[in-house]
Amino acid sequence: MLLEGKSAVVTGAGSGVGRASAVRFAEEGARVVCADISLERVEETAELIGKAGGTAVTVRTDVSREDDVIAMLGAAVEHFGRLDVLFNNVGVPTPRLGALLEDHTVEDFDRLIGVNLRSVFLGSKHAVLRFKEQGDGGVILNTGSVAGLVGWGGSVYGSTKGAVHQLTRAVAIEGAPFGIRANAICPAGMPFTNFMAAGGMGGADQMSEEAVRQVGAMHPLGRPITAEDCAEAAVYLASDRAANITGVLLPVDGGYVAR
Ligand SMILES: NC(=O)c1ccc[n+]([C@@H]2O[C@H](COP(=O)([O-])OP(=O)(O)OC[C@H]3O[C@@H](n4cnc5c(N)ncnc54)[C@H](O)[C@@H]3O)[C@@H](O)[C@H]2O)c1
Repeated sequence: MLLEGKSAVVTGAGSGVGRASAVRFAEEGARVVCADISLERVEETAELIGKAGGTAVTVRTDVSREDDVIAMLGAAVEHFGRLDVLFNNVGVPTPRLGALLEDHTVEDFDRLIGVNLRSVFLGSKHAVLRFKEQGDGGVILNTGSVAGLVGWGGSVYGSTKGAVHQLTRAVAIEGAPFGIRANAICPAGMPFTNFMAAGGMGGADQMSEEAVRQVGAMHPLGRPITAEDCAEAAVYLASDRAANITGVLLPVDGGYVAR
């Protein structure tokens, strides 16, 4: 029970990494606020947690809206008395498969920055304010991407993730005197979430076996990355076992960036 007694908020908890992490956090004893723009999806996640004997509440949140983010963090305080962990996990993909820099419209750029970076700024800002009020530290975890560590493709998407990484490190340094830790996980290719479908690349259920094999073959370990792989890393970084780890960008990438 690595997260026993902790109150955690997970964004994008209706699918993929967010759902898997919310479920694992609850299995490890956390009480979880499951936040997503889709209330229907996030209620399914809470149901999974409840059936397994865990504690979860749901909140419909658009993480790009400040009032929604404040309400989301407020839900942790309202239901569980405090906030210990914020997992800023939402990210939206490159709008069209294979889009080059010059194919992006200004609207594409604004949307990617407006969700992927703005959400981490808003979540981190209001979590830090809450943690300072509580006076005993706290944990911020962000989902970055290997696309923010190397030139992976998706130039604008990768830039938003590079900015998320830098925000993670800066918050780690600013927060350290207050016992606030900030880390990021950086996944590589995950064909089994809804992310690739959201980017017009076809979801796991629409992808051929060959396409899934190709995603796996990009990684030296030869397998696709799963939401569960990311959730395990998230549990560790959120837990007190990582008490002296901050400012880390942890690739969950089957060795991709080690090449
Ligand atoms: N899937 C991949 O290949 C991959 C690779 C590297 C990094 N990532 C990152 O991993 C994270 C999770 O991705 P995933 O694969 O689980 O995706 P997913 O599409 O399966 O899940 C994302 C969830 O975020 C929610 N969401 C979208 N916009 C939102 C908003 N404005 N407010 C609140 N909720 C919103 C969606 O409803 C969905 O439930 C993202 O940050 C993504 O950038 C994904």
